[in-house]
Amino acid sequence: MKFKQSLVNRAGLDKARLPRHVAIIMDGNGRWAKKRSFERLEGHRRGVDVIETVVKASRNAGIENLTLYAFSTENWKRPADEVAGIMALLKIFLSEKQTTLKENGIRLNAIGELWMLADDVRSVLDEAIAVTGGGSDMVLNLALSYGGRAELTSAVKRIAEDALAGKLQVGDIQDHVIQDYLYTRNIPDPDLMIRTSGEMRISNFLLWQLAYAEIYVTQTLWPDFTEDEFVDILKDYARRDRRFGKV
Ligand code: FPP
Repeated sequence: MKFKQSLVNRAGLDKARLPRHVAIIMDGNGRWAKKRSFERLEGHRRGVDVIETVVKASRNAGIENLTLYAFSTENWKRPADEVAGIMALLKIFLSEKQTTLKENGIRLNAIGELWMLADDVRSVLDEAIAVTGGGSDMVLNLALSYGGRAELTSAVKRIAEDALAGKLQVGDIQDHVIQDYLYTRNIPDPDLMIRTSGEMRISNFLLWQLAYAEIYVTQTLWPDFTEDEFVDILKDYARRDRRFGKV
């Protein structure tokens, strides 16, 4: 199914002032479920519907990169049935939506400690990445088993190995070199980071990459997040004056 074009015209967005990369901490699924006396997994199920809404809206607005914090390294410590439920939802999403992603020019990418994923999850993830590999309209980047400190630790180790092997001179280590050792090496840094559910933390998400990101925290719980609110946040972003530390 091909998505409708141009949210830019319909919603009155200024194309020149759109973020190139939006990163989202999708938080509040558990609280959304608890408020309704549902099981937590029902919150995650609704959360997946909202993922679809936001992927479509981003693609139709012309945002080039969308990163979603779907599962953190810390999330492995949740009860086993919740972890299994989230992994099952992820598998369903990847197998059912890969064709739609492909048809809409969306290339799937994943960042994180992917080796920690079970083989069945990993294989459907690899399949979806391969199927959507030709997409050039947007990158949907899923942070899975992701932690910013683990990413930086892995980068430091590999930089040290390359320096010891003589492939890299210590004097040549600069910002852009470190960038090349991160999971996000081919993706520009996020311009805008949205967190739902009102928490004022970055929770080990993209620690290096968020250095100059604009941050927007909404009280809305992720399952209640809508395209309209997303558009309002994009308009708020368009009004901001980004100085990158300069005057
Ligand atoms: C945060 O809510 C949400 C998560 C930790 C998991 C998000 C995962 C999905 C929506 C499903 C799988 C992903 C894809 C890409 C299909 P929370 O549980 O921390 O909520 P709480 O803070 O209210 O407890």
